[in-house]
Amino acid sequence: MESNIDIKETPKGFNCVLCNVNLPNSSSLEQHVKGRKHLTLRSVRDTRKSQEEHSVFVSGIKPHISQTDITKHFQQFGPVADVIMDKDKGVFAIVQFSETESLQATLSCLEHQMKGMKLRVKPREKKEFKFVPKKRSDAERMLEVLNRLKPQLCQLLSVDAQMQCVVERFQLGENERKTRSLLVELLQEVFVEFFPDSQILPFGSSVNTFGIHSCDLDLFLDLENTKVFQARAKSTTEQAGEGTSDDGRSEDSILSDIDLTSASPAEVLDLVAAILTRCVPSVHKVNVVSSARLPVAKFHHRELNLQGDITINNRLAVRNTRFLQLCSGMDDRLRPLVYTIRYWAQQRQLAGNPSGSGPLLNNYALTLLIIFFLQNSEPPVLPTVEQLKDMACEEEECVIEGWNCTFPSQPISVPPSKNTQDLCTLLSGFFSFYAKFDFASSVISVREGRALPITDFLGQKKEKEAMQEEQPTRTPHHSPKLAPLNLLDPFELSHNVAGNLNERSQRCFQTECQEAEKYCRSLQYKRKSTKGKMWGLVRLFTPHGEVPHNKADALTISIPFKSARLPEGLRSQLHMAGDDFRPLWFQKVCSAVEGVLTSVLRCHLAPSTGREEMDASSASLNTSMNSSFGSVESQSDTSPTVKAGAKRLLSSGSDVSVSPHGKKPRLAKRGKPDIPPWICTQKHMVWAGRRKVRRELIKDTDTRPEGSCMEMETQVTAHIIDKEPELKEPLEFKVQPQMVGGTESTKAVLKLEPTSDMTGVFNDFFHFLEVFLPKMVETLLEKEIGGV
Ligand code: UTP
Repeated sequence: MESNIDIKETPKGFNCVLCNVNLPNSSSLEQHVKGRKHLTLRSVRDTRKSQEEHSVFVSGIKPHISQTDITKHFQQFGPVADVIMDKDKGVFAIVQFSETESLQATLSCLEHQMKGMKLRVKPREKKEFKFVPKKRSDAERMLEVLNRLKPQLCQLLSVDAQMQCVVERFQLGENERKTRSLLVELLQEVFVEFFPDSQILPFGSSVNTFGIHSCDLDLFLDLENTKVFQARAKSTTEQAGEGTSDDGRSEDSILSDIDLTSASPAEVLDLVAAILTRCVPSVHKVNVVSSARLPVAKFHHRELNLQGDITINNRLAVRNTRFLQLCSGMDDRLRPLVYTIRYWAQQRQLAGNPSGSGPLLNNYALTLLIIFFLQNSEPPVLPTVEQLKDMACEEEECVIEGWNCTFPSQPISVPPSKNTQDLCTLLSGFFSFYAKFDFASSVISVREGRALPITDFLGQKKEKEAMQEEQPTRTPHHSPKLAPLNLLDPFELSHNVAGNLNERSQRCFQTECQEAEKYCRSLQYKRKSTKGKMWGLVRLFTPHGEVPHNKADALTISIPFKSARLPEGLRSQLHMAGDDFRPLWFQKVCSAVEGVLTSVLRCHLAPSTGREEMDASSASLNTSMNSSFGSVESQSDTSPTVKAGAKRLLSSGSDVSVSPHGKKPRLAKRGKPDIPPWICTQKHMVWAGRRKVRRELIKDTDTRPEGSCMEMETQVTAHIIDKEPELKEPLEFKVQPQMVGGTESTKAVLKLEPTSDMTGVFNDFFHFLEVFLPKMVETLLEKEIGGV
């Protein structure tokens, strides 16, 4: 047993001072002192102690003195083990000797002269070794919270009770709300001193009824009245020659430095930041982020441990916060749903970027998705924003920056919902709704409570201008930024609140909804476990490992409909196709796939038996298309698609599908066009070593292909075919194109299946195609249609 200064006896057992742990009895103490943590800390402490005892602190160094200079100087007293210099400032160094005697010799030397400088040398200060535990990461903290929450939830009797418990566990407490409003009051007092008549208004989670412990404090500094004040003060000054407004208040010096009407938000926020730093106690870490969509001054309140954000052009946010408060007041089920879904989304890393940026959903967007689902439940739980507008009275009319933000101020003005579903049902309903939702072809409108067709947003600029001329009453706002998930703000209709999401984050959101939907269908979701196992929300919140790889999925290649990446020409064709845009887009993709396989990769596409079984609809679909990918086809003489008289497998293009008279295209079949499979033969390993060939082609100016990457890739294939031997047995595989969309995200799915793979190369080719094909198809679509 260790009998040293590290162990103290306490009334409850022992305390290890070194590791800062309590131990209830001598056997646990014995275990502890033999444990890795204790032994490591002891060894670290011993090393530090030894270093301290062998080293001196040297000051009076000038920046031009090097480590070697110092080593040379001190080597006269004994071997030097290490020299640590304060690099940034170049003013001090720690010299560590190998032997204790050298230290004595150094210290007994009365004067240390080096390169004409007098160095000051003293023993190192002895610091008590203290173990500072590592700060827990966000993930560790989240896991700890979840581990404490799990047993609590498991004990409850229903999912509804669990959801209420989640609200109670996370919601802002009364005291937290009070301290926040006191800080707002303090800020108001300070800001009004510098910006007369200004107002500071909280918005977001602190006040929208969905706040959680430690959520940030979003503030809008309203300077409209200050601008009026400033203008008045200016005109008085010009008349009277002094800085006093007509109501006797003086224009503060800080205001005289800036013209609020012409200053940029960043300039005003710099002033805000200066005021925060100098005049608000406990505020630190102040910085202005001017690159954000809405520039913001960020600060931290040390005592309240609170992060605050001040924006100046954000009146709409104050109004949409009022809207969320109203929704919350209209139906009691919204809060438990929001808290539960926000927590689920956080656990699944789908929402709530800690830094406020990145490709995840923000909490506001997630809340709007919940509201949209509730507007679409049967019967609706919440009315649409348009309906709310009609329920408002005249005094409640509100227009901000040209956007109609009218809705009743009190929930009492809104008739209660006829929907009586419980929370458990609504939660699983949310997951099923988004598990099947066709994100690719929809723009979610909380304003109208329905999904708008993406084609409404694909029209060309000119068309929009023409519409503007026809309907001059419409506010001339720009179109929303299209992204993999399109969710319009309920008021600022040109703002896609999910515009920051990328393909991956949108896909993850939907996949997680699908997983959750599956789970919600099980008994474990609805029924409390009699054996004390995880049930209800607990399993929903528990992080799951990797989803097992589904073999069937492994042989499909998806080409998603990416509205944001469509070339201008195709956008307008799809726009004109209206509801029929899916088959039209699918045709284009199939033609492009065919082009890539035959021309770029020189696969041989042969008629399959399935081809003879082509039904009437697909036959007419094929004949309705002519080639818009001719230029690629013409590069490949070997391609079966260009051989004179050869049967066209799937002709490309769709110029006839959009009639010259601008009428809607006549497509073979509304819905899912049925394209028969292609049988592809590949005789060369065109997927192997492409990068190397590409590099060589780029280096060699004689062979370097001119033009797009299509030409480059075509040449890479040609090069491989020329130089590399044929496969012993050609690889043959079937490609079945299918269109998905309507109730799911719109995409073209290619099912690949080897029909003859004697050399076992199919998997390699498939993995290559998985990445290559979607990229090339996108390029080909751009190349062929972009310029139309
Ligand atoms: P957040 O996404 O931060 O939501 O947006 P939150 O409810 O406050 O959640 P946390 O806890 O701080 O993460 C804050 C507010 O900013 C406005 C909304 O008023 C929202 O409540 N906002 C946000 C917009 O107006 N548009 C946006 O695109 C995002």
